[in-house]
Amino acid sequence: MHTVLNHPLVSHRVTLMRDHETPPKLFRELVNEITTFLAYEALKDIRVKQIDVETPVAKTKGLKVDEPRIILVPILRAGMGMLDAMLHVLPYAKVGVLGMQRNEETAEPVPYYAKVPPAKDGEELALVIDPMLATGGSACDAVMQLKKLGYKRIKFLSLISAPEGIAKFEREHPDVPVYTSARDERLNSHFYIVPGLGDAGDRIFGTL
Ligand code: PRP
Ligand code: URA
Repeated sequence: MHTVLNHPLVSHRVTLMRDHETPPKLFRELVNEITTFLAYEALKDIRVKQIDVETPVAKTKGLKVDEPRIILVPILRAGMGMLDAMLHVLPYAKVGVLGMQRNEETAEPVPYYAKVPPAKDGEELALVIDPMLATGGSACDAVMQLKKLGYKRIKFLSLISAPEGIAKFEREHPDVPVYTSARDERLNSHFYIVPGLGDAGDRIFGTL
């Protein structure tokens, strides 16, 4: 299952983010803002509990988030660009990190770092964040690593996704929903997303 955000406020920001003249400072701000919208959509069904609350006027009932164990998992390095916005809406979340580098020729993911605590009982909610879902190799590997660690409730959040990557991900992890702010046309011969936004890590960190 994948959900593409369909909202003018999101599309507006995605367009600015794609623009090759957008400098890193603005690019990071746009990543932050779009990630907040993605979180809003992806967290619609998180667990809540009803509590009593007393306003200055009356007693009433209210809802509180009841997800004591949320873990955010950015895929290095571009995933770090989405972390601040996620922590802003989920300030009590833990953070695990997965390092993954695409082989430039084959686009195969090469894992180089992993610091994620094992799940305790599978009730944890793991949110994997990475701006780009291109071939889907990095996303699939990241989710496989989480499943091996015992995570059962997993969601994947990306800014731009290619149809090829979505298809591979849905084949390999049909139980993990994907939320994205744009589903683009295709991959090019270098496995870059078209039209995409170029190299997300380089644009976030100014290393072009
Ligand atoms: C980018 C991106 C994803 C991956 C997507 O990372 O952030 O992790 O490529 O491509 P895929 O779907 O084909 O696996 P990259 O390997 O360029 O590393 P970086 O974040 O360090 O720039
Ligand atoms: N990684 C990126 O940063 N951009 C792409 O278009 C594909 C993979």
